[in-house]
Amino acid sequence: MIKEKIADLRRQALEVVKEARLSKDLAELRIKYLGKSGEITSLLKGMREVPSDERPMVGKLVNDLREAIENAIGSKENQLKAGETEERLKKETIDVTLPGIKLKQGGLHPVNLVRNELIEAFSGLGFKVFEGPEIELDYYNFKQLNIPDDHPARDMQDTFYINEGILLRTQTSAGQIRCMEKEKPPIKVLSPGRVYRSDYDATHSPMFHQMEGLVVDKGITLCDLKGVLEAVCKKVFAPDVKTRLRPSYFPFTEPSVEIDVSCSECGGKGCSLCKGTGWIEILGAGMVNRVVLENCGVDPDVYSGFAFGLGLERIAMLKYGIPDIRYLFDNDIRFLKQF
Ligand code: DAH
Repeated sequence: MIKEKIADLRRQALEVVKEARLSKDLAELRIKYLGKSGEITSLLKGMREVPSDERPMVGKLVNDLREAIENAIGSKENQLKAGETEERLKKETIDVTLPGIKLKQGGLHPVNLVRNELIEAFSGLGFKVFEGPEIELDYYNFKQLNIPDDHPARDMQDTFYINEGILLRTQTSAGQIRCMEKEKPPIKVLSPGRVYRSDYDATHSPMFHQMEGLVVDKGITLCDLKGVLEAVCKKVFAPDVKTRLRPSYFPFTEPSVEIDVSCSECGGKGCSLCKGTGWIEILGAGMVNRVVLENCGVDPDVYSGFAFGLGLERIAMLKYGIPDIRYLFDNDIRFLKQF
């Protein structure tokens, strides 16, 4: 009886192993026949009923059967694996003659373009870059620039405070003081960087970029200021651009001026960009206030200086005809790609 059962099982098992098409089917068959509760185990359980003199012979038959199934599964497995690998390799072939995917090339942000252009123009006149921190002390941002606690000029610049006495700088002018504290005249520096004010509309962003300039030496006059800025404006805007100085007020300069350039849109005739005046304001400047020089330990009877500060976004907007400052910070590739 049991001998027939063994022979049947052998036939059946070898047949299904032969028919298997996937290695995962073989794994299932292995469990079915050779597993802990598989067919071989149940055969061994039936050994109790086999007369004791036949047991060694039947035991050998069962062992032979297990070996035969193991071998059959093993060799079928090798065969299937080889086929599967071949299949996979066929599917994964790479056509090296296909054209590649073109990498998109990035470009500089318009604010950086303007920044670099200005640095280049000023470097040609002997300016060096001096960078100050964005988290700044009230002391450098206001006090040493002749803007005391109760000074109305503080209202002009809505400030983000971090702690009492510590703030996000509202102007790169803070760098002027740090520079004069560190270096002795002659000084000729350019200080570009981010500044922060609580302001948000089409022409104001809570974070924007300024570039500060400071020149301190013996005999510096307003003519030097005009000459330097005129030369740079011609380089950055157009060789025939006109500039004019208008009286203004900043606590850290005396006298203070604002500098206008002739409108690039209408050439000075008057249009909507220049609001009919023919002129566009581009920066604030002036002769460094004696008080500021004294604050930094520079003798105002020996030295004089000029300073200026301009907004990079404003220059970029004028230069490229960008109507809203927010376009510059939306990170829309379609917009940025144009520069
Ligand atoms: N700090 C001024 C502002 O943010 C700009 C400015 C005006 C800077 C006159 C200067 C200056 O250095 O002399 O509005």
